[in-house]
Amino acid sequence: MEVQKNDPAHQEKAKSNEISRRHFLDTMLKTGMFAWVAGMVAPAISYLWPVRKQGPGSDYVTVSKVDEFQVGTHKMVQSGGKPIIVIRLAEDKYRSFTAICTHLGCIVNWDREKNRIFCPCHAGFFDTEGKVISGPPPQPLHEYKVFVIDGEVRVKTGGGV
Ligand code: FES
Repeated sequence: MEVQKNDPAHQEKAKSNEISRRHFLDTMLKTGMFAWVAGMVAPAISYLWPVRKQGPGSDYVTVSKVDEFQVGTHKMVQSGGKPIIVIRLAEDKYRSFTAICTHLGCIVNWDREKNRIFCPCHAGFFDTEGKVISGPPPQPLHEYKVFVIDGEVRVKTGGGV
């Protein structure tokens, strides 16, 4: 049986299908536009949004457990991609400094024998206070406070020294 194109029921169904197709394409276009705009705007907002603090723990970097940190030794940790040197000078005495030399930015190290921090690049030496002993470094090393919390040695890297 041949369908009559002039049949009102057929015309109504064709119109209904067309609206449905149009509605579907419209929805897809709007969804795509929304995803595109969100993809462009979200990174910009996340870049401009101030960094949120994660609570008091985020200001500290854990170095190690106290009983895994021998007197006279040092450990290196990182905060925000920057190296920090932590030295255990005595049973209850820790010191911590940025491990970036103030001369040209080499990574400093701990000389246990001579009880001093040294920079291997141009023979810069710092004492256990981070002050320059000799060599080209123009400034002392930036110091961080060290705490023992719950049996762990932690360096406070946020909220100032
Ligand atoms: S970079 Fe450290 S002494 Fe030059």
